[in-house]
Amino acid sequence: MKAFKPHLQSLSSYPYQAVEAPIKLDQNESPYDLPLEVKEQAIERLQHLDWNRYPSLHADEVRTKLSQRLAWPQTGMVVSPGSNLLIQALVQAANRVVDTAPAFPHYAFSAKMSAVSYQAVALEADFSLPTEALLWAMEAGPALVFLPNPHAPTGQLFPQAEIHKLAHKALETGGLLVLDEAYHQFSSSDYTALARQNSHVALLRTFSKAWGLGGIRAGYLLAAPEVCTVVQNFIPPFGLPAHTSAILLSVLETPEYTQRIVQTLLAEREQMYAALQEHPTWKVYPSHTNFFLIRTPDAAAAYAGLLEQGILVRRQDHYFGLEGCVRVSIGRPEENQRFLQAAFALSEVSHA
Ligand SMILES: Cc1ncc(COP(=O)(O)O)c(C=O)c1O
Repeated sequence: MKAFKPHLQSLSSYPYQAVEAPIKLDQNESPYDLPLEVKEQAIERLQHLDWNRYPSLHADEVRTKLSQRLAWPQTGMVVSPGSNLLIQALVQAANRVVDTAPAFPHYAFSAKMSAVSYQAVALEADFSLPTEALLWAMEAGPALVFLPNPHAPTGQLFPQAEIHKLAHKALETGGLLVLDEAYHQFSSSDYTALARQNSHVALLRTFSKAWGLGGIRAGYLLAAPEVCTVVQNFIPPFGLPAHTSAILLSVLETPEYTQRIVQTLLAEREQMYAALQEHPTWKVYPSHTNFFLIRTPDAAAAYAGLLEQGILVRRQDHYFGLEGCVRVSIGRPEENQRFLQAAFALSEVSHA
């Protein structure tokens, strides 16, 4: 196909393969659907919408609600169907992209798709932040730096002082530090104060995790108005569907349910971490998210053995520094119990 840019020919697809399993712990989703009354409110809103009309150009109603909730100016906000799309928009606008290895794969994938200059800086062996190497990479030219915090897929939360150093370097060099806060509710971290002071810091958020809206597709960017104007131009006009807006308005009016879910998942996280530390052959990393990264002797065997027991997890062993690793989302208590039983049973099989 000569109509397409040549570099796209060798590009592989996004690394995800759908597999059916009774216990689905592979996508870091919320294991709980929305409370019925919130769903009913959203459906009521949908019923009163004019489906024949286009939605607002830039999701104005949602931005107004978010702006009130976060005390953040509407001009510093872009709402889109999933934060993945915001990542793509940011990359398309950028001269240079820097991230960490490993990191959430859509940063690198977007950079390759857009043929934007891309550099990955390896995390330290214990997954701590390679601050000096990142500062060095930022010195080399104004860069858009993606840093998930808490980090995906390692689950680490980086020290505030390190993040402040990167933010300062972004300001000094004219770059942009994008803190991807997809999992921030699970670590109680929030860099809005830093982004308010420093226009070279932007925050990415998603409704797919703690809000339990993975299927609805919604995320937002908080950034300086001049950043948002550029990013907004890369999102198609009328980009947020009216039905997505209706659902977001309903959840933003009744956000309390998310706290209950987060509390339940945090309690589960503590118990699972304690249990997994007793595993004879697996090493579990501490998590500040709703998932665990686990190093096993053989990721393919762990994945297949769990799947045999009806439990779907995600292999991570193809990423830099993650040999033997699988990623496991925290599910409902009964699902987590089943996972733990299967995990310990696997070690018995391999020892027999
Ligand atoms: C760190 C990180 N950023 C962004 C996303 C994308 O989220 P969304 O569902 O809003 O596209 C994910 C999804 O797993 C993620 O883990």
